Amino acid sequence: MASNVGALLLLLLLAVWIGSPKVESLALQVEDDAIFRSSDGFSCPSPDPLLYYRPVIGILTHPGDGVNGRLSNATNASNIPASCVRFVESGGARVIPIIYNEPEDLIIQKLNLVNGVLLTGGWAKTGLYYDVAKKIFEIVLAKNDAGDHFPLLAVCLGFELLSMFISQNNDICERFYGEIRASTLQFSISETNGTLFERFPPDLLTKMSKECLAMQNHLFGISPKRLQENSALSSFFKILTTTADTNNEDYISTAQAYNYPVIAFQWHPEKNAFDWGSNEIPHSEDAVRVTQNTANYFISEARKSSSRPDDPVMLLSHLIYNHKPAYAGEGYDEVYIFT
Ligand SMILES: *[C@@H]1O[C@H](CO)[C@@H](O)[C@H](O)[C@H]1NC(C)=O
Ligand SMILES: *[C@@H]1O[C@H](CO)[C@@H](O)[C@H](O)[C@H]1NC(C)=O
Ligand SMILES: *[C@@H]1O[C@H](CO)[C@@H](O)[C@H](O)[C@H]1NC(C)=O
Repeated sequence: MASNVGALLLLLLLAVWIGSPKVESLALQVEDDAIFRSSDGFSCPSPDPLLYYRPVIGILTHPGDGVNGRLSNATNASNIPASCVRFVESGGARVIPIIYNEPEDLIIQKLNLVNGVLLTGGWAKTGLYYDVAKKIFEIVLAKNDAGDHFPLLAVCLGFELLSMFISQNNDICERFYGEIRASTLQFSISETNGTLFERFPPDLLTKMSKECLAMQNHLFGISPKRLQENSALSSFFKILTTTADTNNEDYISTAQAYNYPVIAFQWHPEKNAFDWGSNEIPHSEDAVRVTQNTANYFISEARKSSSRPDDPVMLLSHLIYNHKPAYAGEGYDEVYIFT
């Protein structure tokens, strides 16, 4: 008897649950923003109509397999560290790999499918990679000049390349000793308003200036003095932070453009949460918050982009989901390799 009543109650609950409009609306997982326009009376307030909630970031591949030939020696191989992909994904965006040695018209096509670009670290500063990175930088500036808000995030080598493009001097970078070490960031700004740090929690900013939460791995960089002496560079970039290398020489660790959504890091914001290839990479909760807050900022910039993919099917066919990363075990843990 008691079990019959129990079964009846269960059936009743099930009927109520199946009939619930909230459950029905869950079925409406369509591949556009219609879910935000639900009119069942249970919908949440609409997000900001000025923002785009399906942003895609293009990441330029870098020559080589990224792990000294352990995964591929193909001369035309190029790679993206999986940490960069996850960094972008953690901010709420998808990734399209822009393969540096693919035909230029395909690269241009891909740039019309994305809402921002990321330049990874690496070593290549000449040849086709240099030319393609420069072309992409020019396109980013042109998109912004034409009224789109199209962000660019440049990491390590990416920062060095931007300095070379902007100054039109391929010898602009100086030798620094910033290899494989975590460091603090010394803030050069009196307030974070209007910068990439504006929504970082104040306690985290304090910790970033005192604790080693920024992973460095570079041989070159730009000193504040070198930047100030170059009018093209000093009118383009505002210095947000500096860091001393192992010789106690200061280099610019973070810079942001005055008039473009362009941010440049000599350090690696993507590594703290997603890269285990070196024991020096900080993985404390605060270090991971640095990764998360940086990713949130970058993708919040991409959501302001007015670009929409003109060909959604082509967009899907280019997404990183069509590729699998390979496990390298050291150096970069995982890399996407394109051959
Ligand atoms: C690439 O070449 C190096 C040096 O010859 C060799 O040790 C390595 O196994 C090669 N890698 C692959 C994936 O074949
Ligand atoms: C931040 O800057 C914006 C303009 O850049 C200004 O309108 C706003 O009042 C500033 N907020 C603070 C807290 O300084
Ligand atoms: C790399 O070389 C292989 C073999 O020659 C070729 O099939 C492939 O299309 C090339 N890939 C790129 C990105 O150039």
